[in-house]
Amino acid sequence: MTTSDSLHVLGISGSLRRASYNTALLRAAAELMPPGMTLEIFDLAPLPLFNQDAEKPFPEAVVELRTRLAQADALLIATPEYNSSISGALKNAIDWASRPPKQPLAGKPVAIMGVSTGNFGTVRAQLHLRQVLTHVGALPLGKPEVLVARAEQAFDAEGRLVDAAARGFLQDLLAALARWTQRVSPA
Ligand code: FNR
Repeated sequence: MTTSDSLHVLGISGSLRRASYNTALLRAAAELMPPGMTLEIFDLAPLPLFNQDAEKPFPEAVVELRTRLAQADALLIATPEYNSSISGALKNAIDWASRPPKQPLAGKPVAIMGVSTGNFGTVRAQLHLRQVLTHVGALPLGKPEVLVARAEQAFDAEGRLVDAAARGFLQDLLAALARWTQRVSPA
């Protein structure tokens, strides 16, 4: 549940790399947030690998993830593309979040974006991510798609998104996420 002037978004990068372009894309999103929308970036690095034997109780980092997900009005996921799919780190986080008794991803509005060094800007990873998110009952936003290809040209040496078109698409995505969240979880 949210109100039109306070929308808390949890940002997740599927890359653990220190100089990750996907994490940099989340930082660009934080800069471009429309008024009334806030972004908190959650780090997936402390999560252990999913193990069904380690669910009772959930490890501390998993409790933290599940709590943050539950508290967020919406999610913004920046996914890298690894071998035409999402990263193991991102799938691992979704697997932890999907487990009973409560499923914090169910009914959660989600915007997807991604950046790759290749020519296709994570399109294949994003399709897989949509499939997985739909399975766990999350509500991925359809459009606009933010697919940033050839990362070295889109970002400067300090990791700032400098591609004007990509910045515009990202702004459109954030505005669409605000509308989508109002629509699927009205105040
Ligand atoms: C890649 N990369 C990659 N790129 C792509 O466009 N399609 C792909 O299928 C793959 N596959 C792939 C597998 C693995 C294991 C790695 C490490 C990399 C390149 C990828 O786009 C590049 O490393 C990005 O910089 C990863 O995102 P971050 O870490 O910068 O956020």
